[in-house]
Amino acid sequence: MKKRSFLLTLKLAALTNLFFATSSIAAFKDVKFELGRALFFDKVLSGNKNISCATCHHPDLASGDAVALSIGEGGSGLGDERVLSFGKRAPRNAPALFNLRLMDDYPIFFDGRVEEVAGSNGFIASPAKDLLPEGLEDILSVQALFPLLSAVEMAGQKGSNEIADAAAKDDKVKAWNIVVNRVKNIDGYMSLFQEVYPSVKSKNDLGIQHIANALAHYEDKGYRAVDSPYDRYKEGDLTALNFEAKKGMKLFYGKAKCSQCHTGKFQTDGKFYNLAIPPVGPGKEKGLGGKEDFGRELVTKKRSDRYKFRTPTLRNVVLTGPWGHNGIFQTLEQVIDHHLNPEESLFNFNFNSFLYLDDEDPGHTVFDMTFVKENILTNHDLPRVELNHQEKGYLIEFLYALTDLNPLPREVLIPESVPSGLPVKD
Ligand code: HEC
Ligand code: HEC
Repeated sequence: MKKRSFLLTLKLAALTNLFFATSSIAAFKDVKFELGRALFFDKVLSGNKNISCATCHHPDLASGDAVALSIGEGGSGLGDERVLSFGKRAPRNAPALFNLRLMDDYPIFFDGRVEEVAGSNGFIASPAKDLLPEGLEDILSVQALFPLLSAVEMAGQKGSNEIADAAAKDDKVKAWNIVVNRVKNIDGYMSLFQEVYPSVKSKNDLGIQHIANALAHYEDKGYRAVDSPYDRYKEGDLTALNFEAKKGMKLFYGKAKCSQCHTGKFQTDGKFYNLAIPPVGPGKEKGLGGKEDFGRELVTKKRSDRYKFRTPTLRNVVLTGPWGHNGIFQTLEQVIDHHLNPEESLFNFNFNSFLYLDDEDPGHTVFDMTFVKENILTNHDLPRVELNHQEKGYLIEFLYALTDLNPLPREVLIPESVPSGLPVKD
């Protein structure tokens, strides 16, 4: 999809929003949602009080940020107008937040570093290991603890504030406590916490788990995509899909072998594969020049997991570009062409469109195609499939049919203001 039509889609989504606004707002009297929404948009959670979750997961941008690699600390502006004036981008693309609580066995993050361990009766593995506080509701609540600690996301650079300093020393608990102290001393938050959590009677009862649970509740209720033409078709409305989308669906679950990995209700098997995606961006301090991202290997420490990333859900995927774990694909055609023939896709790859990354942070991007071919391409997991131009078009039409055309209105998802008084508009 070209960028212009991407924006057009967003505009259409906004119009649908207006249309459904009145009915859904009434249905949404939920104090925990309001609390989570305030926290999600409140920059007071970030070290330098300049970044909120919404900076990179904005309702107007399908709960992402519309750029290949997110800009947290060091940036200003929103979406593809956000510019980096110092520091580094995040090494990965900001994923959308749809259906995260509805998907069983979906590991969180592209490398699955937050995941429920199979057969463990709900044990959640995470970078915080046994430091996780008691009382977190589930994996989505656990996730919400980590952006707060990341220097490039919300904590900020060492030396710039006390959260950043604690996070830089890997003192997670201290960093979380500072966030809690900030929040509990803001008028307007405590009464909401007390209403939502009866066990929070005074400021001293507030913990980071209450903040995380409210954030996760907002994400869960606010970002669901389960009312797409595809869903309606599955429920028996055979007219919900047009001719092309039906053709695309047949290919997706058949000849094109997409469902080998994109399976189940949400089009994901929750497993990890190497798709031979070129490493562009600051990476995760591994491999060539310390600029590579080893993906799943970072979690399992197994060499065989190198360059593997989680199969993403494809719900609302037409709204969430650019695509891939490092946002390397600017159109869905590119994504599909790459899946079908990674060799040719890499051969044709236009790295020039990523040179801006090098301008921002000289030498921080891997452009070594020989290296990519010899190391990443050789072990890719993609099946060999040949499709003609028309068939690819059908597949894209099917991806459109995975879009929920009835999202919550932005008036529900975006607060007018937040208790800290910090701005919410950017
Ligand atoms: C600077 C941009 C940025 C900010 C700020 C940010 N995120 Fe993210 N978010 C990302 C990126 C990038 C990833 C992917 C990271 C990875 O996979 O390693 C991500 C991943 C996630 C995921 C996992 C999604 C998935 O599919 O696995 C969730 C949920 C999430 N963020 C929620 C939040 C919440 C809640 C906050 C605020 C507390 C927040 N984010 C703040 C950029 C950001
Ligand atoms: C071998 C498993 C596998 C098969 C087969 C497969 N995919 Fe994927 N797909 C993935 C993985 C893994 C990713 C994420 C790769 C990354 O970001 O590093 C992905 C990413 C995508 C994305 C980008 C999603 C996003 O949010 O960035 C789309 C779209 C997609 N696949 C569609 C398809 C279609 C259409 C087919 C069939 C032609 C297909 N896939 C076949 C594993 C697979």
